[in-house]
Amino acid sequence: MRIVLIGFGTVGQGLVEILRDKAADLKLSENFVPQLVGVVTRSRGSLYHPNGLDLNGLLTAIKAGSLDQYPDTPGLERGWNALQTIQAGADVMVEAGPSNFETGQPALDYCYAALENGQHIVLANKGPVAVAYHELVSRAKAAGKKLRFEATVMAGTPSIRLGTQALAGCKITQARGILNGTTNYILTQMEDGMTYADALARAQALGYAEADPTADVDGWDAAAKAIILAAALFRARLTLKDMNVRGIRDLTTDDVTAAKAAGERWKLIAQVTPAGGSVQPTRVPLSHPLAGVSGATNAVTYITDLLGDITLVGAGAGRLQTGFGVLSDLLEINEGELISRI
Ligand SMILES: NC(=O)c1ccc[n+]([C@@H]2O[C@H](COP(=O)([O-])OP(=O)(O)OC[C@H]3O[C@@H](n4cnc5c(N)ncnc54)[C@H](OP(=O)(O)O)[C@@H]3O)[C@@H](O)[C@H]2O)c1
Repeated sequence: MRIVLIGFGTVGQGLVEILRDKAADLKLSENFVPQLVGVVTRSRGSLYHPNGLDLNGLLTAIKAGSLDQYPDTPGLERGWNALQTIQAGADVMVEAGPSNFETGQPALDYCYAALENGQHIVLANKGPVAVAYHELVSRAKAAGKKLRFEATVMAGTPSIRLGTQALAGCKITQARGILNGTTNYILTQMEDGMTYADALARAQALGYAEADPTADVDGWDAAAKAIILAAALFRARLTLKDMNVRGIRDLTTDDVTAAKAAGERWKLIAQVTPAGGSVQPTRVPLSHPLAGVSGATNAVTYITDLLGDITLVGAGAGRLQTGFGVLSDLLEINEGELISRI
């Protein structure tokens, strides 16, 4: 499988580390032999080699600051932008650039270019799926290619695959969960007596929250993930404007203490049904499975007709955790390709 990787930050590097460290296992147990032919960043260079790039060389170069540090080899191309790299050819495009919840760009154009060039798409980037899921699905179907995006919701914890594949045959009537680790971490710290401002500062120091924490603390990141879940589970056509969104910025330590005294806990709950969705700070009884989810962990409960409630708890972010989400999609595509050749 020849892969181009757009975005070589936390997630892209996590994926490449996994591909390097598990190469023998993946070949033996999954019959998966990936070849990374292109890697693109915004400001730290880009590389393309039709015969594949050396994974260790890529990681060493980026850790030294730039892909320009990657050794010269015959046939190596440097400095191509994302579109040039996609057009040069591959079997799969992995997009791990920054998420834009308003336009999905520039990643959305990269997805369209990948399909036009006969490539499957794997996204860690939430933007294209949150903004244009139906258009992407229809173009992918027309091209006979797969669109996969497990890593966009709960990193590698298989929320999408559980809902769309393992629970196939069950009707899911609602999904509700804790889809943003930063806000859950802040709420957990506030329960331990910290103010909102101090808890946010600690989340930033630990790398959970961005310098501009708006997308997390005001609920937009959770809302985008809820929209992705609604699209995947219900084929819903929700946009951020359809979602009733409130973040945790206004919660005080008094609010948190009052909930605790009543045997409850504040959680930022994202929920979607086929009809719509919301993200709201919600007081959850301690007996509810979501109340026990603390720190940066994520969880989702699917309410189903045949199985009742199913709650999945796991990592919602992280280098290897999200890299694994991308890998799980690559493996599914690989399996499909192998089966189609039988
Ligand atoms: N980190 C997580 O735990 C996690 C979990 C789930 C989903 N995600 C999603 O996965 C994506 C990647 O996250 P990340 O944490 O890896 O971000 P990151 O560390 O900021 O890396 C982003 C990468 O994209 C590159 N890039 C930026 N603009 C680009 C453009 N126009 N064309 C090509 N490359 C471009 C950046 O280049 P430079 O190096 O030059 O800046 C960088 O290499 C995001 O959409 C994020 O929301 C992340």
